[in-house]
Amino acid sequence: MNSLIINRVVPAIRMLVSKQKIMVARFDDREELLKAEDKEDLLNFDFIKKPSGILVVDETTEPNEIIDDLTVKLSIWYENRAPHPDYILLKGIGLIAIGENTAILDQLLGAPQQLVKEISGRVQDKIIIVTGGAQGFGGGIAELLYAQGANVVIADLNEETGSKMVNSLNMNSQTNQAYYIKVNVGSAESVEAMVTATVKHFGGLDVIISNAGILRAGGLDEMTPESFALMTEINYNGYFLCAKYAAAIMKLQSRFKEDYFTDIIQINSKSGLKGSNRNFAYAGGKFGGIGLTQSFAMELMPFKIKVNSICPGNFFEGPLWSDPDRGLFVQYLNAGKVPGAKEIKDVKAFYEAQVPAGRGCRVIDVMRAIYYVMEQEYETGQAVPVTGGQNMLN
Ligand SMILES: NC(=O)c1ccc[n+]([C@@H]2O[C@H](COP(=O)([O-])OP(=O)(O)OC[C@H]3O[C@@H](n4cnc5c(N)ncnc54)[C@H](O)[C@@H]3O)[C@@H](O)[C@H]2O)c1
Repeated sequence: MNSLIINRVVPAIRMLVSKQKIMVARFDDREELLKAEDKEDLLNFDFIKKPSGILVVDETTEPNEIIDDLTVKLSIWYENRAPHPDYILLKGIGLIAIGENTAILDQLLGAPQQLVKEISGRVQDKIIIVTGGAQGFGGGIAELLYAQGANVVIADLNEETGSKMVNSLNMNSQTNQAYYIKVNVGSAESVEAMVTATVKHFGGLDVIISNAGILRAGGLDEMTPESFALMTEINYNGYFLCAKYAAAIMKLQSRFKEDYFTDIIQINSKSGLKGSNRNFAYAGGKFGGIGLTQSFAMELMPFKIKVNSICPGNFFEGPLWSDPDRGLFVQYLNAGKVPGAKEIKDVKAFYEAQVPAGRGCRVIDVMRAIYYVMEQEYETGQAVPVTGGQNMLN
């Protein structure tokens, strides 16, 4: 029941209380809070410091009834005072804390206090999921977004690297936060739970970056049906699932704030624009991803949801290529794929020479493309190449 309330009510409330600035919110359903009937009951909790900021919604579990009741109560609230409510109590369901940033949410819900730095970044207080955000391109993107003020959800199958990344980002003690959620993007249940957990923790969703992906190269003789199915499940189906569950939240936000733009961004590849020899399972899924992007873009633009793919060239400095044991450079060296190559640096030089820019793609290159599609209001359904000139559109 709570996931229904979280997904169908919290993003709507976030927009209803956002006047000058877009707020963040947190849903707290600790058992002791569920007994609170009114303001006075809530004031028994030590962490509730602002009695004048409490708004109580009548007892109902039907999302539309909650929203209707709240719409009326909020219009009366704003007639009498300017500041937004700090707490909305849904009797018997939970408490929603509302604030300008996530450090304020921590304070409102009694988390241990710490000194936080205020910054004013390019994506300040936006709520952004990065799948596969624990390392590689996703890790770099998550770090740069956090540094620019975003509340970043690092959604990754790898709990150890994902949590480590979140802890190291949060050491910066900014008013925005990073948050780890374990997900398998190939599973509908898991992706739906990722979106719900994001809304519960931050109040809504502004951008999802569908980045998690895997690569198992091989020609027709080597490729097993199982490997093909796994790559398709993660690289292609995974993008569909992210778009499906993210769009539901974004559409709801758009219903309550019509001019608010949100983004679904897929990290695709240059192999989504041009076939890749003995790598068809990867290229096929990435080509398909562009078909999804174009189709989602048409369906979702009426809700101000833009959908774009970014198509990076090879990330030579990332683990996929440079891992000393399992990276593609060492694999290609051992397989004799590059004629005359004696060392890893020879293999690298061979691949770099194929790029007019003379180097591999870096996180910052991808980040610039992400900012372009996010900041643009008059473009959607695109596949933006970031290949140093290796792929040119016609
Ligand atoms: N590395 C490149 O040269 C390159 C080039 C172009 C595009 N890309 C694309 O960029 C994206 C990221 O690639 P990378 O090289 O940074 O990858 P990576 O292997 O370095 O990192 C991928 C991350 O995704 C996570 N992951 C894997 N399967 C998952 C699943 N089922 N659910 C959730 N998380 C999962 C992993 O734990 C890992 O943290 C991929 O979509 C890839 O196709 C990569």
